[in-house]
Amino acid sequence: MKPYYLVSLVLGLLQMPLLSAETSRWYNDDQVKQGAKVFAANCAACHGKNAEATKEWRKRDANGNLVPPPLNGTAHAWHHPLKLLRHTVRKGGAPVGGTMPPFEGKLSATEIDSAIAWFQSMWSDEIYTAWSKRNADDGFQLIKPKQQSADSPTTRLLRQRLRGVEVGKPQKTEVKDLYQVRAGSEYAYLFSGGRYALIGNLIDLQTGQNLTEQAKEKLTLQLLETFPESDMVIYPPEDTTQQTLTILTDTDCPYCRKLHKEIPQLQKAGIRVRYIPFPRGGKQGKGYADMKAVWCAKDRTVAMDIAKGVNSGDIDMNGCMEAAAVDRGYEFGLKIGLRGTPAIILQNGRMLEGYVPADRLIELSRTNQSQ
Ligand code: HEC
Repeated sequence: MKPYYLVSLVLGLLQMPLLSAETSRWYNDDQVKQGAKVFAANCAACHGKNAEATKEWRKRDANGNLVPPPLNGTAHAWHHPLKLLRHTVRKGGAPVGGTMPPFEGKLSATEIDSAIAWFQSMWSDEIYTAWSKRNADDGFQLIKPKQQSADSPTTRLLRQRLRGVEVGKPQKTEVKDLYQVRAGSEYAYLFSGGRYALIGNLIDLQTGQNLTEQAKEKLTLQLLETFPESDMVIYPPEDTTQQTLTILTDTDCPYCRKLHKEIPQLQKAGIRVRYIPFPRGGKQGKGYADMKAVWCAKDRTVAMDIAKGVNSGDIDMNGCMEAAAVDRGYEFGLKIGLRGTPAIILQNGRMLEGYVPADRLIELSRTNQSQ
């Protein structure tokens, strides 16, 4: 496990306020998950990343306007029944002489509800209960969740701690009462019925096998199977294929270019190289634009060689600027927990992050035969 993922998973676990599952709320996990995205994109700029805004929310700004209040349960939002919360988000601050923009027409009713669900998921049970009571006084019936997402009791607490992160089904391990569970692209181990989590690598000292790595390799392979070859740029081996390497690449990254120069050496050794585009800077910038051009080109390998500077010429873009494959590649990279390029996936699912010289790759391909 790479240290920064470990850190983010641990921090995620520590920072998330815990909901009691005993208090039933009007929304379900899926709404909270969607709401996290809606809030980050539309509300966080004013109300804060964690809806914490500012402790000084009672003061007015230099123009005498209200400042965006926290929505995490520390300010007033719980005074307003659901109807009014929805109304505020739809109409913005204008009806009360405020400055918040209206979201009517910009967000659907479902999206607005999900954003409310998300910030309410931060409210303590006391605040939530007080709020529910106001709803009842308002003659308002709280809608019941349509479907509670399938929640295993073992992963219940972890899910609540890691809202917004996809938590997989718990798997039994060889160790009694210890469950392995995937959280995003990382693994945690749960015991005592899911009350406690350990994050790290599970190693069988008798066989020397790293069971966590094995699980990750399996997951990478499973995800890789869903990524079609038609979305890749493929360099076939000179002769028959001995091994396949899948490389997440960015035309704009110096070590990707260095590795690219060594492709003929890999081809000679019977290695089939498959490129998946992964614009490191996200869906913007030069790497993103260049890769779209490459993936649009009539002959992608020729275009790739040009984009990576081993050949000169113009990329024939075939009149296309779409290349959704680049977006799909980016999303695939995020799913497997990637942060940088190049990242090399061996045939058995093992992922190497960063540049590895061709002769070492050839050696590794031979020793890491797929099982
Ligand atoms: C441009 C800044 C800005 C954005 C973006 C914004 N808000 Fe606000 N929000 C405010 C301000 C300022 C107030 C206080 C009332 C006013 O002045 O309009 C407020 C008030 C609220 C209130 C009432 C809270 C209370 O305690 O009375 C809610 C609920 C709310 N916002 C939700 C949201 C949601 C959900 C989003 C995203 C969909 C959002 N806001 C986006 C600035 C913003």
